[in-house]
Amino acid sequence: MEVVIVPDAKAGGELIAEAMAALIRRKPDALLGVATGSTPLPIYEALAAKVAAGAVDASTARICQLDEYVGLPQGHPESYRSVVLREVVEPLGLTPSSFMGPDGSAADVQAACEAYDQALAASGGVDLQLLGIGTDGHIGFNEPCSSLSSRTRIKTLTNQTRVDNARFFDNDIEQVPHHVITQGIGTILEARHLVLLATGEGKADAVAATVEGPLSALVPASALQLHRHATVVVDEAAASKLKLAEYFRATFAAKPEWQGL
Ligand code: F6R
Repeated sequence: MEVVIVPDAKAGGELIAEAMAALIRRKPDALLGVATGSTPLPIYEALAAKVAAGAVDASTARICQLDEYVGLPQGHPESYRSVVLREVVEPLGLTPSSFMGPDGSAADVQAACEAYDQALAASGGVDLQLLGIGTDGHIGFNEPCSSLSSRTRIKTLTNQTRVDNARFFDNDIEQVPHHVITQGIGTILEARHLVLLATGEGKADAVAATVEGPLSALVPASALQLHRHATVVVDEAAASKLKLAEYFRATFAAKPEWQGL
């Protein structure tokens, strides 16, 4: 696992957006797995700026969702489909048909989970999967004690996650769905490159447990330790509990620039 400490969220967004742009230049139909929530927004803003400046043409890239709320009506502004269309697909100039996601409003949610897992496998695989991290160590919505080999399935959100996400629902926890569809940890680990961004002091404990703690289902993000190409980008605040911070800084500083992330 490579850990990169950046001054702030904007710098993290720029670094990851450049890695995504480089991937798209190499592979114009790359499949990019996107996360939602607040953390990845600086990445999407930086990548959209590159597209607007003509530094990369993302129009043939493909996008897939990491997770989705269950039970929100189609078109709900906080459904992750709506968020990804608004924050990623439109600003990057992608065609909506290049976008895959699980159907959180399906009558048969289990079948929707299986169909999405199969669609991901049939797509040729995710080239780069962006991840955020929950304060409880979740990735996607694999809450603590998720199986490290889990596939896309329905999960129940912890109370902590519902409290954390109430800000997207008028600060009213009652409006936050209890259930989600999430790519499983086993599904996520199949992506060729995992890039996790964590910013802010509130993520410091989860980051330390992910990077320096034991591999444990109690900290689902620690599964990144199993991946051959996982990059964890953290700002100073989120890095504040890392014992090996100086080593990570020195390692990245010594890395040849051409290697990228
Ligand atoms: C959302 C997702 C979640 C978030 C996590 C952090 O698609 O997969 O794992 O990344 O809950 O959310 P923020 O970035 O809002 O702190």
